[in-house]
Amino acid sequence: MSFCRACVIGHPVAHSRSPLIHRHWLAEHKIDGDYVREDVPPEKIGSFLASFATSGYVGANVTVPHKEAAFRAADRTEPVAVALKAVNTLWLEQGRLAGTNTDVYGFLAHLDETLPGWDKRTGIAVVLGAGGAARAVVYGLIDRGVGRVLVVNRTRSRAETLAAEFGKRIAPADFADLPQHLKEADLLVNATSLGMTGQPPLDIDLACLKTGAAVYDIVYVPLETPLLASARARGHPVVDGLGMLLHQAVPGFERWFGIRPKVTTVLRSRVAADLGSKEHAR
Ligand code: ATR
Repeated sequence: MSFCRACVIGHPVAHSRSPLIHRHWLAEHKIDGDYVREDVPPEKIGSFLASFATSGYVGANVTVPHKEAAFRAADRTEPVAVALKAVNTLWLEQGRLAGTNTDVYGFLAHLDETLPGWDKRTGIAVVLGAGGAARAVVYGLIDRGVGRVLVVNRTRSRAETLAAEFGKRIAPADFADLPQHLKEADLLVNATSLGMTGQPPLDIDLACLKTGAAVYDIVYVPLETPLLASARARGHPVVDGLGMLLHQAVPGFERWFGIRPKVTTVLRSRVAADLGSKEHAR
C-alpha cells in the first residue's frame, strides 16, 4: 500500500484527539501513512469539500461545526447519516465523496463492551439533550429495540422535533419531571455538554434513579464527570464518554487504511493520559 493520509476537519480543531488515536493505530500496524488536523473556517468548508477528491487525502473525520456541511457535500451517504443529517466520516469511491456517521456505532460499541446484554434489560431510557450528539444516541437506542426513550432538553421544541422525526417510541419530557422519570429508567444518558470542563455543571439528583439503572455520560473531559462519580457512589453501573470517542474512530480507519483496528487498554491509557486524566485503562 502506498503512503496514505487522512485528516480531521473542524474549526477549531486543535483540541481533537483523533490524530493521537489514528497515529497510534498506524504505528501499531506499521502502515506508511499519516493523520493530520485541518482547521477549515465555515466560509471555506464548501470549497474545501468540493475539491476533496484532489486534496491527496484518502478520507477524513469531520467534527464541529462541519458535520452538516459534510452531509450536504457527500455524493453518497449511508442511511445512518441520512437519519442524523450529519456526516463525521468521509472517504472516496472512484473520486466521489462518500460519507457516514460513526457516532451511533461508537455509542453502542462502548455500551456493548462495558455492559454486555444492556439492551435486554433496558425498557425505558432517559436521554438528556436534543442536539447532534443526542440524535445519535436516540437513533442507537431505537435501533437496538429500546421500548421508550424520553428526551429531556432545556429547549423543549428540539426534543419535540426529535420525537416527531424518530417515531412513537420517543417522547419529549421536562427537567421538572425528571425525578419521576428516573424512577422508571433503566438507562440514563447525558448527551448535553453540561458537566464538561468549562461548561456549567449538570445539576440533577440521582436519588430517585431506579436501582441498578445504568448511567452513560458522553462527556469525556473530565473522564470521570460529577454525574458518573455520583452514579458510581450510588452503586449504578457507569459508562464513560472516552470509549465512544475511541470506538467511533474504528470504521474510518478501516475504510482508509484497510485494517480494522482494536480499541485496546493501551490506546485508552494513552488518550486518557493526554486528556490529563489521572484515570487509566480499566
Ligand atoms: P452537540 O452536537 O454536541 O449535541 P449541540 O447541538 O449544541 O451540540 O447540543 C448541545 C446540547 O446541550 C443541547 O441539548 C443543549 O440544550 P438546548 O437544545 O436547549 O440548547 C444542551 N445544553 C448546552 N448548554 C446547556 C445549558 N447551559 N443548560 C441546559 N442544556 C444545555
